[in-house]
Amino acid sequence: MGKTCVTAQVLEHGLIAGDVWNLVIAAPEIARQTKPGQFVHIRINDSLEPLLRRPFSIADCDAAKGTLTIIYRVVGRGTALMTQLKPGDTINCMGPLGNGFQLTAQRPLLVGGGMGLAPLLFLARAFCSLPATILMGGRNEQELFWPTLYAGVCKNIHITTDDGSVGQRGFTVDLLPELLQSGNFDAVYTCGPHVMLKGVVALADKHSIPCQVSLEDYMACGVGACLSCTCAGTSGKRLKVCTDGPVFAAGEVVW
Ligand SMILES: Cc1cc2nc3c(=O)[nH]c(=O)nc-3n(C[C@H](O)[C@H](O)[C@H](O)COP(=O)(O)OP(=O)(O)OC[C@H]3O[C@@H](n4cnc5c(N)ncnc54)[C@H](O)[C@@H]3O)c2cc1C
Ligand code: FES
Repeated sequence: MGKTCVTAQVLEHGLIAGDVWNLVIAAPEIARQTKPGQFVHIRINDSLEPLLRRPFSIADCDAAKGTLTIIYRVVGRGTALMTQLKPGDTINCMGPLGNGFQLTAQRPLLVGGGMGLAPLLFLARAFCSLPATILMGGRNEQELFWPTLYAGVCKNIHITTDDGSVGQRGFTVDLLPELLQSGNFDAVYTCGPHVMLKGVVALADKHSIPCQVSLEDYMACGVGACLSCTCAGTSGKRLKVCTDGPVFAAGEVVW
């Protein structure tokens, strides 16, 4: 059936930490087809402000119940408006969009920073029979509410914080070499700030471990028509993050 545009009812919505919210919507047509790494493009209300849809990764999906979970941080006008949604309200939701992760690994290592941990949660669930190891990073303990969400989903959880308030002090890329040298992993899956992705890609390459990267660039149309989301590809062509990605093999993208 491919991507579709539906009116989705809000089932649950609540603050989970600081300025981060958990939104569960009923969207069975999308949930039936969704793969980890794909995203939805949401029209928050019927007014012209904000005019454009906002893209969010699918942090969890229950195909049987027909539900999607989005975990989002309030950063501007659109996400601030989203916080007002209540159970029973409806939003217009387009999806599933983009290409998701290839679940080819037998011993996956997931590396996430900040809100990049949202799509990796759904990926970790998809790997649950293996199961995956996660390396997560954030600025401080308040930002790292993620271990509770990943508990029971990932075999091992490694944590770094910039200020050392929880886990190892530093960045994910400081701990990553040790994990890659262990020989325990046959693929790396990563999502987070661009500077972190660049470091993760370089380290995975150094250890000859295949790496898939999810990019969260600015988007307008979300369906390949406006070219607002492009990035440079190693083939010499511009890549559309919304339709060629958001997940790419690391070697496809110019870092
Ligand atoms: C494929 C994809 C998946 C995403 N998944 C998630 C997710 O799961 N959870 C989540 O919290 N966010 C996610 N984002 C980012 C999210 O779409 C933006 O935070 C949101 O659109 C901001 O809308 P706004 O109206 O609140 O902010 P705006 O008023 O549009 O912007 C507010 C601030 O956020 C910055 N900003 C806006 N969009 C982005 C962006 N894409 N990347 C970096 N900075 C941005 C602007 O520069 C500005 O400083 C995703 C983005 C993409 C492209
Ligand atoms: S957002 Fe329009 S082409 Fe990607």
